[in-house]
Amino acid sequence: MKQVPIFTDEVAQAGGWHGQALACAFAHRGWQAHMVALDQCHISILHQQVTVQIPGLSQPFPVAFVRGVAAGSTQQIITRLNILHTLQRQGVKVYNHANAIERTVDKSFTSQCLAEAGLATPNTWVCEHRATAHALIQSASDAGKRLIIKPLFGSQGKGVRLIDPQQSWPLPQDPFVDGVFYLQEKIETGKYQHDYRVFVIGQQVFAVMKRQGQGWLHNVACGAQCVPCHEPDVAELGLKAALAIGIDYAGVDIMRDQHGQCWVIEVNSIPAWRGLQSITPQDIALALVDDLLQWA
Ligand SMILES: Nc1ncnc2c1ncn2[C@@H]1O[C@H](COP(=O)(O)OP(=O)(O)O)[C@@H](O)[C@H]1O
Ligand SMILES: [Mg+2]
Repeated sequence: MKQVPIFTDEVAQAGGWHGQALACAFAHRGWQAHMVALDQCHISILHQQVTVQIPGLSQPFPVAFVRGVAAGSTQQIITRLNILHTLQRQGVKVYNHANAIERTVDKSFTSQCLAEAGLATPNTWVCEHRATAHALIQSASDAGKRLIIKPLFGSQGKGVRLIDPQQSWPLPQDPFVDGVFYLQEKIETGKYQHDYRVFVIGQQVFAVMKRQGQGWLHNVACGAQCVPCHEPDVAELGLKAALAIGIDYAGVDIMRDQHGQCWVIEVNSIPAWRGLQSITPQDIALALVDDLLQWA
């Protein structure tokens, strides 16, 4: 049976819900998935020959699926992404490719790509010095804007907070910040108390849903409800965002402001789809596998 590595940080859980859904889909198409963590792999450079050693995988493979890149030090993350880049240079189709993962894992890089593509994305500032961040908060507050802070490499709503400029120390002092302040104007949503997730596969919108949280954070991981949605302007903007990043498949987060305008908040290169699957009749894992296997 042909083998395909799934890079995951959930090897101990047999790939978790998503890894298992992918393994089933691959099996359906006659491929055997091999769960492996990127930190278990190593690079060897021997007599001008570069190889990536993947434990348990001996035969060559034409495609690989990236389901997780575990958090780590800057050196560890660079090493893990290097493995993906090396595989790509050697002709493996890595899904999503390393460039897309780099552009999206770093929220600042994503915001820049979106803005440079002319897409509506909230005003954002990225700085390292607390004094700079305080000055930015003050001028936003003077202009009547509210700001939120997000961890640069965050996900699932963790560490995303509204800044209270009235406090004498409005910025958090915790590891989420990790030396970089990513500040963004809050989208004032008025009656639109939800956000959107657009799931794009292979330059097409696969599905769109609304996510409705209890407060202003609408991540499924924070308990938001998933609701099917058919709003063409949202789908169109989601697709444009994925094209701006240049990504094979993506989960794009969008919000509608109180005036009805849509804004791209985030593009995810390793999106979860369990919530979306609960309201979508088509098998999402199978759609992803079919899109990837075109390259096999
Ligand atoms: N600029 C913003 N204005 C209002 N709400 C926002 C803004 N940015 C994010 N949110 C809310 O916070 C959630 C998490 O933010 P997001 O940038 O998607 O980070 P994460 O990677 O943690 O999902 C979004 O899904 C949305 O509900
Ligand atoms: Mg998000």
